[in-house]
Amino acid sequence: MSTKTYNMRSAGQAQIPVLGLGTWQSTGADCVEVVSKALQMGYEHIDTAQAYGNEKEVGQGIKQSGVGRDKFFLTTKIFPDDLKFQPEKLLAAAKSSLENLDTDYLDLLLLHWPDDRVPLSETIPMLCELQKQGLTRNIGVSNFNIAHLLEAQKYADVPIVVNQVEFHPFIKQHTLQTFLANHHILLEAYSPLARGDVFDNEVIKSIADTHNVTPAQISLAWILSDKHRVAIPKTANPEHLQGNLDAIKVQLSADELQQIDSLARSDGRKIEHPDYTPEWDD
Ligand SMILES: NC(=O)c1ccc[n+]([C@@H]2O[C@H](COP(=O)([O-])OP(=O)(O)OC[C@H]3O[C@@H](n4cnc5c(N)ncnc54)[C@H](OP(=O)(O)O)[C@@H]3O)[C@@H](O)[C@H]2O)c1
Repeated sequence: MSTKTYNMRSAGQAQIPVLGLGTWQSTGADCVEVVSKALQMGYEHIDTAQAYGNEKEVGQGIKQSGVGRDKFFLTTKIFPDDLKFQPEKLLAAAKSSLENLDTDYLDLLLLHWPDDRVPLSETIPMLCELQKQGLTRNIGVSNFNIAHLLEAQKYADVPIVVNQVEFHPFIKQHTLQTFLANHHILLEAYSPLARGDVFDNEVIKSIADTHNVTPAQISLAWILSDKHRVAIPKTANPEHLQGNLDAIKVQLSADELQQIDSLARSDGRKIEHPDYTPEWDD
């Protein structure tokens, strides 16, 4: 695929390729293979996390691909609850990610979940410091509600460029989206295929048939139709890689976008933290 069709979304200094490869539950040799193949076929964005236990395999996949480090955008995440009451451990945690991924820098480092036991007044300044020291080019957060974001912004002296949250046709996030757009923070859509639920939805299937594409591509095209959003579909199956990437080219009509908008439900969330539930905005 030509990189010329690979659109970017900007926030702060960050230029983020609109579609990345998610790697949660990609493990072992399959993870190495899929990361390598993805980069070779033109993916320019890879998402991992310390909690996925696969940073080393992602790093091996990057190496195996032969693709230069400057050709793609690499994100990892650190769980604040690993830090418990010692946020200075963030520096050591970030260094271990760099070592696992076998890279000199991250493009984006996220706090994986908010956690009331680890004050943002301590983690956010340290996250900013990691950017200033060059370990990461950008910083962001994940699973933050508006109250968390407002608090985080009080302590940040570099832009928070991303909030990575669950987002697909069956979840609302309307209030959060408006807030993020107004604050120049990109919504990075995780579980953008609703972990497979989009494949069986009649509205999405019918629109997919009209365009002669897959329901996965329709869900991704709908997410990317808004310039404040990027998406990171996961696949460990190399056969799904190209189709997901080609979703970038699918254009939906205003009526089709509206039909998918109307699928949002207040009980559509699929992911919860096992022992900490933020108060979601909608
Ligand atoms: N920040 C957070 O707290 C958080 C939470 C959840 C996820 N994430 C990130 O977001 C990424 C994506 O979310 P997710 O993994 O929850 O779910 P997802 O991307 O919505 O769905 C992944 C599922 O869809 C299947 N799939 C993917 N492409 C397909 C295709 N073209 N045709 C048929 N099946 C397809 C995958 O199976 P195959 O592998 O067999 O293709 C997998 O079962 C994660 O991998 C992770 O990087 C972040």
